[in-house]
Amino acid sequence: MVKNIAVIRGDGIGPEIVEEALKVLNKVAELYGHTFNYIDADMGGCAIDKYGDPLPQSELQKCIDSDSVLLGAVGGDKWNGVPGDKRPEKGLLRLRAGMGVYSNNRPAKIWPQLSDASPLKKSIVDKGIDFIIVRELIGGIYFGEHKTEGDTAIDVLTYSESEIERIGRIGFETARKRGKRLCSVEKSNVLDSSRLWKKVMHKLAEEYPDVELSDMLVDNCAMQIVKNPAQFDVIVTENMFGDILSDEASMITGSIGMIPSSSLGATSCGLYEPIHGSAPDIAGKDLANPIGTILSAAMMLRFSFDMPQEADAIENAVSAYLDKGFRTADIMSEGMQQVGCKQCGDLIVENLKKV
Ligand code: IPM
Ligand code: MG
Repeated sequence: MVKNIAVIRGDGIGPEIVEEALKVLNKVAELYGHTFNYIDADMGGCAIDKYGDPLPQSELQKCIDSDSVLLGAVGGDKWNGVPGDKRPEKGLLRLRAGMGVYSNNRPAKIWPQLSDASPLKKSIVDKGIDFIIVRELIGGIYFGEHKTEGDTAIDVLTYSESEIERIGRIGFETARKRGKRLCSVEKSNVLDSSRLWKKVMHKLAEEYPDVELSDMLVDNCAMQIVKNPAQFDVIVTENMFGDILSDEASMITGSIGMIPSSSLGATSCGLYEPIHGSAPDIAGKDLANPIGTILSAAMMLRFSFDMPQEADAIENAVSAYLDKGFRTADIMSEGMQQVGCKQCGDLIVENLKKV
């Protein structure tokens, strides 16, 4: 198959980690006889420097016209002084909205080889950590009006029934394919938008009698994720709650550097990115963990290109790499062999076998 992949390297460690993911994709192409064409697109701080805009229309168009987008990370202290609507992150938000990718899927799964890297007690980790956060991605407070008037700042949070329903369906469908348990997370004891969220989820539940729906307040959920993560199968939640809970969920699996994500909308053209940021403090030092990006590329093959075997091959290669005791600095532990970003990519390529 021939696929056109828009590639956004971005800022900080972005270019380094994307480079390793492309090495892995090239190996997959070679093994399975595919052609992946890469179309470079600029977004984030580097686009501000080049065009004075974090996501010029031309760059967004490249992404919309592609078969899917692979993204490293954007942002950094250098652009902290830039006004809110021109910040690097604004480019990312405009990309997500422009592509219409309302459903963000963030797995929190512990690799058995990394159980020691989790900050949780062994007795908790041993019960298992394997759940998915389905995060609404193009609504809520992120996309409401933002303004500052004198000494007052205003951020508006809005959700409509249809926005909640379409992400709710993804939550139910995801749970249906897994353990059939969906936990809807909101703050319905305080927010109107959360009360609407809960109502819509319960209405949808009638269409999914095989899925068990539960409700949880977001503050309690933050606690439950560290107390008893084994209780979760699929969590569905709104944009900002999903942002916060997914960082927490990633950390209990060992390192945020390991976690990929997919974002999809109405078409198969998806956006694939690690959930971590641009880590400017370690940029250019060959220290970053590229696995979150490499696994994002695997998700792209699985969810957008219908290449499940190719995706399995990448995940197996990551597992083999970990089995052999290689670790980047973020997940380094005693007795393991520390490697840099480039070597990590090379070793994963070396372990990539056709399944
Ligand atoms: C994420 C990030 C982004 C978000 C930032 C960079 C805008 O934290 O993908 O989780 O808040 O969505
Ligand atoms: Mg985040």
